[in-house]
Amino acid sequence: MAKGEIKMNEPPKLQLNVPPPGKSEKYKGVKHTLLVMSGKGGVGKSTVAVNLAVSLARLGKKVGLIDADINGPDDPKMLGIDKEKLFANEEGIIPAETKYGVSIISMAFLLSTEDTAVIWRGALRHKAVQQFLEEVKWEGMDYVVMDFPPGTGDEALTVAQLVPDAEGVIIVATPQDIALLDVRKAINFATQLKLRVLGLVENMSGLICPHCGKEIEIFGKGGAEKLAKKLGIDFLGSLPFLPSIVTGADSGVPGVEVDKSFAGLFTGIAEKVVKKVEK
Ligand SMILES: Nc1ncnc2c1ncn2[C@@H]1O[C@H](COP(=O)(O)OP(=O)(O)OP(=O)(O)O)[C@@H](O)[C@H]1O
Ligand SMILES: [Mg+2]
Repeated sequence: MAKGEIKMNEPPKLQLNVPPPGKSEKYKGVKHTLLVMSGKGGVGKSTVAVNLAVSLARLGKKVGLIDADINGPDDPKMLGIDKEKLFANEEGIIPAETKYGVSIISMAFLLSTEDTAVIWRGALRHKAVQQFLEEVKWEGMDYVVMDFPPGTGDEALTVAQLVPDAEGVIIVATPQDIALLDVRKAINFATQLKLRVLGLVENMSGLICPHCGKEIEIFGKGGAEKLAKKLGIDFLGSLPFLPSIVTGADSGVPGVEVDKSFAGLFTGIAEKVVKKVEK
């Protein structure tokens, strides 16, 4: 290799796979659209999206949930309806009903088996998210909560283009992300797309001991709240790591149905969101 300064090749020009579609004419009649995002994977986006949707329904709202994670759709399993089939009538596709008062659409309903992999490039995932928004009957919903795949990908971009007046982004982070400032990426993404950031939810903030019920503060307290302040966004709440949530999610029961304290924390988050978007 020649000595001297090492230079990266010219980065490829950023190009969307599909031309920006502009605001959707078909996705309408929904009062508030909430986008649950994170800078990286496995931090609890699906857990927050599912439990926030159920908590909003418990507050008497009409709630829809779009599982916009096309390649890794988890939400139906967390709500115990992964065997559901979809139906359509002249008004469009009818979202599946859960027993928790939340209607949901997910790629999982369209796969032949639980193990079937979806390996789709950006353009196809864009099309799928567009169909989930435009061809499903959401009209009349107070809230549509959207669960995204990790990072700042095509799916969220599609929604930002089709629903530019979406009410806002809820960012989920674990204490590790807070330390690594991964949250910043997600905030920058939302800001660039001119989406309002509603606030930050800190997940897995401490561990509730299954034996004594006391919280072990693995990463210390208050980091997320301080960071939110520093970044100029609202702090919506902290959720501890509760082992019963994992078994609940695996058997199709959302955390707010499994644990009273978890339910209380989520009610607090849902009430903050409602207050922010409905005022
Ligand atoms: N507060 C919590 N207490 C206990 N377990 C949790 C908690 N939050 C999430 N989990 C568990 O951690 C795992 C990852 O959570 P989840 O699927 O919600 O993350 P995600 O950000 O949606 O992941 P991905 O990026 O893969 O979509 C799941 O098994 C979930 O049940
Ligand atoms: Mg997920």
